[in-house]
Order: sequence, then structure tokens, then C-alpha cells
Amino acid sequence: MVFFPWKEEYEIGIREVDEQHRELFSLINELYETMKEGKGRETVHRVLEGFIERVQLHFQAEEKWMEKYGYPGLLTHRAQHENLTKKVMEMEKNFMDAPPGFSIKLANFLREWLHNHILGSDRRFGEYLDEDRNRADKHRSR
Ligand SMILES: [Fe+2]
Repeated sequence: MVFFPWKEEYEIGIREVDEQHRELFSLINELYETMKEGKGRETVHRVLEGFIERVQLHFQAEEKWMEKYGYPGLLTHRAQHENLTKKVMEMEKNFMDAPPGFSIKLANFLREWLHNHILGSDRRFGEYLDEDRNRADKHRSR
């Protein structure tokens, strides 16, 4: 069973953002699989570092879209991104010395955060773009 399966409801309708979201799902799945298979902590840590790198690039890209279309919710949204980045970096810092079971907590946390964020905040941005289809017509994935 896939730990964090992609579903259609996660699509917010901007191709670039949807593709990056899928990539983050893959990395969270990889994180989970790596720890489940009992790979060494260093290997899991490398996957986590990769996730942090990608999620930061993704947040930047998403915020650029918001700026481009004058999204009024940008500041609140950016604060959510900053909050997650801070938390994950904190967790990454303690990762090598963390007690057993920490990895699974981390994977669950990331899955839950992303699920709620995409279906809540990201989707609201998608709906904002839908209100004026001309805003982003060229970039729509559906
Ligand atoms: Fe977001």
C-alpha cells in the first residue's frame, strides 16, 4: 500500500504546482519506504534533505504564482510555508540523534501537513484563479 497516494482531489489546476506536489508526495513515500525497509538512518536523512530542498523550491515557485496574479492571501500563505520550513529544518537538525520512532512521526507529520495545506490553502488559490479564467489560462492543466 502506498503511504501517501496521489488523488485527483489534490489537483489545484496549475500544471507546474501540481507536478511539484506530486514530486513531494514521491519524496514522502520514499522517506517512508526507506525507513520501513530498515535502511540506515543516514540514508533516510539524505532523503529528508532532498525533500527539504525540493519543498523550498516549490514554495518559492508557488509564491511567485501568487505574486504574479495578485493573490490577496499571499502573506498568510507565505507564513504557512515559512512555518513548515522552520519545523522541518528543526526536525532535520535533530534527526541523527532522535529516539526510535521519530522517523515515522516525521513521515506522518509531513503527510498530514501537505494533505491539509493542499486541500485548504493551495486549493483556495486555485479557486481564486478560477474566478477569472483569463488570469492563468495559458498555464492551466485542466
Ligand atoms: Fe502552498
